[in-house]
Amino acid sequence: MLIRRETPADVDAVAAVTSAAFGTPGGADPVETRLLAELRVSPAWLPPLSLVAVDDGVAGHVVCTRAHVGPAPALGLGPLSVHPARQGRGVGSALMHALLGAADALDEPLVVLLGEPDYYARFGFRLAAELGIAPPVAAWAPYFQARTLTAYRPELRGPFRYADPFDRV
Ligand SMILES: CC(C)(COP(=O)(O)OP(=O)(O)OC[C@H]1O[C@@H](n2cnc3c(N)ncnc32)[C@H](O)[C@@H]1OP(=O)(O)O)[C@@H](O)C(=O)NCCC(=O)NCCS
Repeated sequence: MLIRRETPADVDAVAAVTSAAFGTPGGADPVETRLLAELRVSPAWLPPLSLVAVDDGVAGHVVCTRAHVGPAPALGLGPLSVHPARQGRGVGSALMHALLGAADALDEPLVVLLGEPDYYARFGFRLAAELGIAPPVAAWAPYFQARTLTAYRPELRGPFRYADPFDRV
């Protein structure tokens, strides 16, 4: 398996993996697939931070988009998707490690996500509240996590805002 940047030829396969990871077989497109489509055409889309895991085809995908803590730029992570047939074999972990390395190399200070703390702690995420970063919805706090990168400074605190499509979809 290789991790690399997404290319235009991957777009349909990435949508299919996202639908398979979050949807039900034969069901309508899940909200995450629609979110991804809207993020792609938004100014918040960051091509260097849309990564695919590839073996026989696209097995997984992760993306970070431009978000803010107060007025300062930060990254919002998601969706992260691994095809159900390929889950539990390290694909998600490989995508996360590659993404965090790429974001660090780009001098981004912080990656924020909403997810299961038991899964994301292994990648260095901790509750965002510990850093003084507040979720857009107070009830998200137990799942709202942040990973600091080399460019992080403790002054980066305040309310977190995802890219606009997160509010619309
Ligand atoms: C979550 C997801 C991306 C993980 O990808 P993956 O390739 O299966 O993960 P890996 O093989 O790298 O890691 C597997 C480990 O993660 C754990 N894990 C997976 N999902 C988890 C969850 N929701 N909560 C806690 N742990 C989880 C597994 O128990 C396993 O633990 P172990 O290494 O201690 O045995 C994948 O399961 C997926 O696409 N799920 C559906 C969509 C989703 O929920 N995306 C994340 C939204 S925040």
